[in-house]
Amino acid sequence: MNQQRRYDAVAIWLHWLVALLVLAQFATGWVWGFFERGSEPRFYLFRTHITLGSAILALALARIGWRLTHRAPPLPEGMSRLQRIAAHAGHGLLYLAILAQPALGLLAISAFGKTLGRWPRDAHNVAAKLILAVVMLHVAAVIWHQFVRKDGLLARMLPARFAANTR
Ligand code: HEM
Ligand code: HEM
Repeated sequence: MNQQRRYDAVAIWLHWLVALLVLAQFATGWVWGFFERGSEPRFYLFRTHITLGSAILALALARIGWRLTHRAPPLPEGMSRLQRIAAHAGHGLLYLAILAQPALGLLAISAFGKTLGRWPRDAHNVAAKLILAVVMLHVAAVIWHQFVRKDGLLARMLPARFAANTR
């Protein structure tokens, strides 16, 4: 495959690392509620959530910096104008999510009982559901490209040695 039609290695590794961490955020955020207040697992899950969430913020900044200074491959040929707009809007929302959601989380823990009140916490919880919806649409789009359009889109975002097996 033409080199310029793929993401570069840094973009690929940052994408999958952040994707993995985001999944861990949903797991931790929604699982700690099953444990009693003050219990050890709940404390551990909460701490993990804050640590991984802060790592996402740092990686998101690195990722956006990298994206602004390195060209992404053009979208596959033959996509309609609407599909292109949807792809760019979806990716934009995902970048926004990995910046804004940790920021709200950090505000929430620093603002408990203080001047900001509950809104960062409420916004963080509502945003979690919206982000899950966008991620599901993102994955659905990848499946559509892979199995309906068969345009090799997934391979562009996989390390070269895995990419060969998906086409
Ligand atoms: C992309 C990163 C993040 C994602 C996807 C995420 C996701 C979630 C989810 C799914 C929940 C449970 C929401 C619910 O109860 O319905 C949650 C809760 C929470 N998160 Fe995050 N989170 C992220 C980053 C962070 C960070 C960086 C912090 C703090 C430094 C944080 C602090 C919190 C807090 C305090 C709650 C509990 C809010 C409450 O009391 O209701 N989150 N998060
Ligand atoms: C299993 C889950 C996921 C799969 C299979 C997946 C797959 C992909 C693929 C194949 C692309 C390349 C699209 C193209 O070639 O134009 C892509 C791009 C992207 N993905 Fe994911 N992804 C997943 C999860 C996530 C998550 C959780 C996030 C962030 C919250 C995310 C954020 C992005 C962004 C921002 C881009 C655009 C990259 C750019 O052009 O700068 N992805 N994803």
